[in-house]
Amino acid sequence: MATLTDQEFARFQRFIYEAAGITLSDAKKVMVGSRLAMRLQKCQVASYGDYFRLLASGQQPEEVQTAVDLLTTNETYFFREPNHFEFLKNQLPGLVRYAEPVRVWSAAGSTGEEAYSIAMVLEDCLQGRPWEVIASDISSRVLERARRGHYPMERARNVPRAYLQKYCLEGTGTQANTLLIERTLRAKVQFRQVNLNAPLPPLGMFDFVFLRNVLIYFNIETKRQVVRRVLSTLRPGSWLLISHTESLHDVTDAVQQIAPSIFRVRT
Ligand SMILES: C[S@@+](CC[C@H](N)C(=O)[O-])C[C@H]1O[C@@H](n2cnc3c(N)ncnc32)[C@H](O)[C@@H]1O
Repeated sequence: MATLTDQEFARFQRFIYEAAGITLSDAKKVMVGSRLAMRLQKCQVASYGDYFRLLASGQQPEEVQTAVDLLTTNETYFFREPNHFEFLKNQLPGLVRYAEPVRVWSAAGSTGEEAYSIAMVLEDCLQGRPWEVIASDISSRVLERARRGHYPMERARNVPRAYLQKYCLEGTGTQANTLLIERTLRAKVQFRQVNLNAPLPPLGMFDFVFLRNVLIYFNIETKRQVVRRVLSTLRPGSWLLISHTESLHDVTDAVQQIAPSIFRVRT
């Protein structure tokens, strides 16, 4: 079995920094080795150095995407940091006076639990008024799972019971212990591959952006660039939500903090 040398690890650190803006500390060496180990066999290369050269050759872009998928951390769950969903709910009455849809972006939304949690709140609270949720991530693997909207039941722990009944189908037979997001709700969430570390594609303007548990992977300069890009998609007076474990200290002064992890774009 190949061993990941310090020099090879440094190459993968640079690779994921350039591809996704992610800063991997030296403590992540074992993690990188174990996440990429199976690719060596699959690509029939003898060492991590050879695997890196394969990625750098530019001849296998799909393998580059696989490596990015493997080097990102995708942990998420429904209604994570529940006060953000309460906050969203509480702001909606102030927004429905506008004829246009309420628009929310789950940036770095991983396997979709965040986007579907937002969608459940909007569908429940807006009572037939229009809304749109766009969910994006750099990883194509998580986006595939997000589009399916099919999860192990144990992940539904935090979904309010009324939402489980209205918006989720409980699997039976071979699908026992799983839940499927109900088709019409699923169809209203759009999934897109978006790299926050590159110029954004046209996404339109949003009332809320959930940018949670991704800034932690970026250094200060990347954070500034990512937040600047994300802010360009937020309407004046709209809201940016980050995780309670993250901070915008020294990152931007274009927003006003109105609660821990909740920021309002200045009007
Ligand atoms: C820990 S998950 C957070 C998921 C969700 N926002 C939450 O709070 O539960 C972080 C996600 O950020 C994504 N990510 C990392 N770098 C990214 C980048 N440059 N552009 C877009 N997504 C990125 C990863 O693929 C991963 O799915």
